[in-house]
Amino acid sequence: MEQSETTYRGHVTRNSILASLAWTLCLGASLAWNAYQQRSGVLEFARIQAQANINKDIAFRRWATEHGGVYVRASGKWPPDQYLKHPERDVVTPSGTQLTLINPAYMMRQVMEGYSEQYGVKGHITGLRPINPHNAPDAWERKVLESFALGVTEAAETSKIDGKPHLRVMLPMYLEGGCLQCHEEGGRLEGVQGGVSVSVPLAPFTAAAAHELRIALLSHGGIWLIGLGGIAFVSRRARVRGDERERARLEISALNASLERRVSERTADLERANRELEAFSYTVSHDLRAPLRAINGFAHLLIEGEGERLSEEGKRMFGRIVYNSNRLGDLIDDVLEYSRAGRVALVRTRVDLGRLARTVADELAETYPQAAIEIAALPEVEGDETMLHQVFSNLVGNALKFSVNAPQPRVDVGEIAQEGRRVFFVRDNGVGFDMNYAGKLFGMFQRIHSEAQYPGTGVGLAIVHRLLERHGGQVWAESAPNRGATFFFTLGAAAGPP
Ligand code: HEC
Repeated sequence: MEQSETTYRGHVTRNSILASLAWTLCLGASLAWNAYQQRSGVLEFARIQAQANINKDIAFRRWATEHGGVYVRASGKWPPDQYLKHPERDVVTPSGTQLTLINPAYMMRQVMEGYSEQYGVKGHITGLRPINPHNAPDAWERKVLESFALGVTEAAETSKIDGKPHLRVMLPMYLEGGCLQCHEEGGRLEGVQGGVSVSVPLAPFTAAAAHELRIALLSHGGIWLIGLGGIAFVSRRARVRGDERERARLEISALNASLERRVSERTADLERANRELEAFSYTVSHDLRAPLRAINGFAHLLIEGEGERLSEEGKRMFGRIVYNSNRLGDLIDDVLEYSRAGRVALVRTRVDLGRLARTVADELAETYPQAAIEIAALPEVEGDETMLHQVFSNLVGNALKFSVNAPQPRVDVGEIAQEGRRVFFVRDNGVGFDMNYAGKLFGMFQRIHSEAQYPGTGVGLAIVHRLLERHGGQVWAESAPNRGATFFFTLGAAAGPP
């Protein structure tokens, strides 16, 4: 009892721990997925920004190329480009202003170096054979430039610039018509003059992502707590239900135990009362026999010696006395027989039922010469031979007694198989009886027919019932008035298989 309760409680606890773990894992996985999405979102946004910047740069460069460069006022900060080989690099306007031709690369470098604070994005133009050594590629740019020659059209990497994380994106620059004014075609990179790279600081994107992540963390935490609360609630209820069930089980088993105790007490009481009753009836019957024998004996002596002196009426009354004391003797004998049937030890041996039935038939045939007794093949069984002799004797005797008035009295003894058990029967074609009285058949002193018609004490079937009961068997009857009667009986499992 204790055991099963702890097992059930342990079961509930284990399940709720498992459920909590699974729930935590689920939300952890969801959070990780969120974080991953945020992170790849950061890079994606940075890449888009980088591309937009590069495209704008390229547009400016194209514009400048289209105009074959642009003339600006020469200044100390940005002197004329020493790398630009052009016959009209420096010109003077009619009013005397000094102008210098600015090529696209120089223009962009000026923009980026001068205004990159505002830009936020650092750009760099580079080539494998730079006209301006200042434009020489770094290690990463060199690798990317070489890959552009093989057809790659974009490259990206994350790196630290001044200790801060940046996304670097690089696109190739192709030589088109206008470029050729100042750049020669051919060389190491077919069609690709070089590339532009920009570096986008990741900080603003990471900050936005971190904010998103904080929100996700909060909402996940809330959902996680609600889930854990639910699991705790359910497991608490399960535990309470388990306790209730356990209590009910204990109550029921306590009730059962007390019921069993009471039943066995009552049974013992009943058995004791039965034994006392049996002993009492045995003693009474036994002790009655001696005085009865004396009455009978003296009655005989009296009728033999003094019979002549009695009047006719006196003789008749004396006859009644003798008859009744004989009958009392029969009753006492039967009661003692019944009592014996319950007391004598059962001695099991192999009994040939067929032979037994024939012996009984032969014994009774003398009393009922006109009756036909048919005995079918019967098996050998395990049982008490004396008791079974008595059973056949009573059943066949009854059958003969109640069929004595039939035109052709006939008694059959045989065997049938019913629901897998061996059932023996004794059938007659006598007066039979109303099945409404079937319940009375096997009781003590129970009679269905009047004694004047069919003499007897009404104990024979009670004895049969008792003897078969002691074999673990049963007895029952089927009949209808004037249609004969059939008595069936079994010998119980100990009698052997059917
Ligand atoms: C007006 C002349 C001129 C035109 C037009 C021109 N460039 Fe340049 N380019 C230069 C000069 C001069 C430099 C080196 C200048 C510097 O950075 O000071 C240069 C630099 C470059 C560089 C950097 C590597 C290096 O050699 O220093 C690349 C790449 C480049 N140009 C590509 C192009 C492409 C592509 C076009 C056509 C869309 C083009 N340029 C149009 C004059 C020109």
